[in-house]
Amino acid sequence: MIDSEKIPVHVSFIMDGNGRWAKQQGKDRFQGHIAGVESVRACVKTAVELGVRYMSVFAFSEENWGRPESEVLNLMELMGRAMLAEMPSLNKNGVRFRVLGNRERLSKGLRNEIEQCESMTASNTALDLIVFLSYSGKWDIAQAARQMALEVLEKAESLEQAREQMKACDIDSLNRYMITAGIPDPDLIIRTSGEMRVSNYLLWQGAYSEYLFVDTLWPDFRREEFIQALETYAKRDRRWGKIK
Ligand code: IPE
Ligand code: IPE
Ligand code: MG
Repeated sequence: MIDSEKIPVHVSFIMDGNGRWAKQQGKDRFQGHIAGVESVRACVKTAVELGVRYMSVFAFSEENWGRPESEVLNLMELMGRAMLAEMPSLNKNGVRFRVLGNRERLSKGLRNEIEQCESMTASNTALDLIVFLSYSGKWDIAQAARQMALEVLEKAESLEQAREQMKACDIDSLNRYMITAGIPDPDLIIRTSGEMRVSNYLLWQGAYSEYLFVDTLWPDFRREEFIQALETYAKRDRRWGKIK
């Protein structure tokens, strides 16, 4: 049993290793992604059970658009299908579902499906499940800066006033334009498959996150692995730059 005070409010996953898992099993990559959806389901269930309030997953990066077209299409199709299929169970468990990322790059059909799922679960409050899709940390910072600057320009009555308002912009101001505005920064970011890199994920929001890199491939990461990760997190000493 983990002390409830030591349960992270927000756990985020860089879900990696689906392709290698499939290869190990002599299957094609797509089967790895399908098995990966099962892991998301298992982790959502565990998060609700243990009282994690926000769970987010990195499902597709801006860089992943550079994969072969067939893989991209397969992944997008799977995303839409899995999302719709999970709705009844997400609703039953009180899970609010959201997708964050560069929606302009998604197909109209997928965007509609996302909007449908988001509105169907909008009033749920047990767990927020956030799927980062067509997301990258640098993109997020750039879009936030652009929007902040545009809003200042549009609202100002003169260039001088715009200049003064721009000078007053600080970390909190930019934070309000990040795509994650209103969502607490992740306490714990777990990357599976043994890769020790961040791959352009939550660069701003992860500034003080605890990181955990595990060798388990994402399709093998289920309840037991999640609980083990939370036990590791519970032993971490977060100092926030101070002395304890
Ligand atoms: C993670 O698995 C899923 C996505 C990035 C979409 P990968 O597809 O990266 O699997 P590996 O890294 O090739 O094993
Ligand atoms: C990171 O995995 C992106 C997601 C998990 C969605 P990748 O497999 O794309 O990352 P790299 O290429 O190993 O850095
Ligand atoms: Mg990978």
